[in-house]
Amino acid sequence: MSTPRRMLKGLSVSTPFGCESERLPMTGERCDMGKKPWSGRFSQDTDAMVERFTSSIDVDKALYAYDIEGSIAHLTMLAHVGIITQDEAAALRTGLGRVKAKIAGDDFEFSDALEDIHMHVESALGDEAGDVARKLHTGRSRNDQVALDIRMYLKAEIKGIIARLFALQRVLVKMADQYKRVVMPGYTHLQRAQPVLFAHHLMAYYEMFKRDQERMADCLKRTDVMPLGAAALAGTTFPLEREYTRQLLGFAKVSDNSMDSVSDRDFAMEFISAASIAMIHLSRFSEELVLWSSSEFAFITISDAFTTGSSIMPQKKNPDVAELVRGKTARVVGNLMAIITLMKSLPLAYNRDMQEDKEPLFDTVNTVKACLDVYTRMLPNIKVNKETMLAASEKGFLNATDLADYLVLKGVPFRQAHSISGKAVAFALEHSKELHHLTVQEFKTFSEVIEPDIFEYLSIEHMISRRGTHGGTGYDNVLKAIDRATRDLDEQTAGTEG
Ligand code: ARG
Repeated sequence: MSTPRRMLKGLSVSTPFGCESERLPMTGERCDMGKKPWSGRFSQDTDAMVERFTSSIDVDKALYAYDIEGSIAHLTMLAHVGIITQDEAAALRTGLGRVKAKIAGDDFEFSDALEDIHMHVESALGDEAGDVARKLHTGRSRNDQVALDIRMYLKAEIKGIIARLFALQRVLVKMADQYKRVVMPGYTHLQRAQPVLFAHHLMAYYEMFKRDQERMADCLKRTDVMPLGAAALAGTTFPLEREYTRQLLGFAKVSDNSMDSVSDRDFAMEFISAASIAMIHLSRFSEELVLWSSSEFAFITISDAFTTGSSIMPQKKNPDVAELVRGKTARVVGNLMAIITLMKSLPLAYNRDMQEDKEPLFDTVNTVKACLDVYTRMLPNIKVNKETMLAASEKGFLNATDLADYLVLKGVPFRQAHSISGKAVAFALEHSKELHHLTVQEFKTFSEVIEPDIFEYLSIEHMISRRGTHGGTGYDNVLKAIDRATRDLDEQTAGTEG
């Protein structure tokens, strides 16, 4: 393990714009170990407890690769505009490459004395590249640096999350196709309402995850803005070419207001908000899987590989994955509360409070990725108990609306038809029968217009087939929805690959 031995002290550049960078003087000062790059105006060492308290290195070290990539773009731009020489840029680049390799290889010691990843990288660069390292931070502040790092990080992570949402959507569409003729009871108020295709139920989640993916893509646009060059808050006296840095880093645009650039965390709030909605969808799905896998429903069986047992009750097989995803939703929603509360009442521009943005952000990214991954893997491992679903659809008067609709077709106004069907339900309940078990004579006591063709109307096949309005559970509609979704996913996958 190598420890950063030497610290960099305040860079002193007293030459005007456009000067030959070789002529930029070095102060020649060296910091002692334990001194900070900002220690110039301090005469006392930082209190050890304060050092520990203010340090964020345990968390933000995860940003090291982005921090280094951002620094390389910055120094390349500095050389491009002549603030440093190409030789200096090359030396800094090589040094940063070595620092990156050390961190990646776990051959790096982090210390609270160096606060955050930005100071660690800069300090280690001093070890690798010598005095020239002191030029790297020209025209830059940690305020715009950290904003850059988290935007770079989040851009990559949002793309990963969008890819995972696609994978989950594909699994759903595949399952919907596999079970396209399976019927289940549809519920409102968790009471059996009308029969629906299981595929239709699955495709409802497809729609939710599609909106999640759209929200993520939209949030990506506002994350894809390059803040570097804002410096501390007001911009810098150096002739930085921000557009050049933007191109090097592959951002869509440069931020337009330096104060906003260093104080904006909208993209993080927006991301965690979109992530919370996605988690709510997963949580609702989880709740259904938990219910459906219970003996009370017995609609599905989750494979052994995705369930766990009880340490005391030998018969137990618990849907823990679904339960944990439901539980982890609380973390993400908690993270949303944390970040929006963090930003509330912060005056412009940067405030140290904002260092607290990373934990909720990183935790959200990691939680959402893990939940999407485990779901995508678990869903194909669910066995659907078609007969139980069908049997449940045939009990509980799920065809009462269809009886009313039948009466309407025979000329009875809907409100009256509704009341007749209600009376027939009450009669059937009293005789412990379902509507389709009544005789035509019994039906006729409620309405003369009912004929033997009623039984076809009350059959599951007929009920599903007739729900032909766009978006309904009719067989043809659901097939069309599956086709549409398959085409959408193919197109979007082609789009992301292109
Ligand atoms: N560690 C800080 C953060 O994450 C970096 C910016 C610190 N800037 C400052 N002026 N202290 O927010």
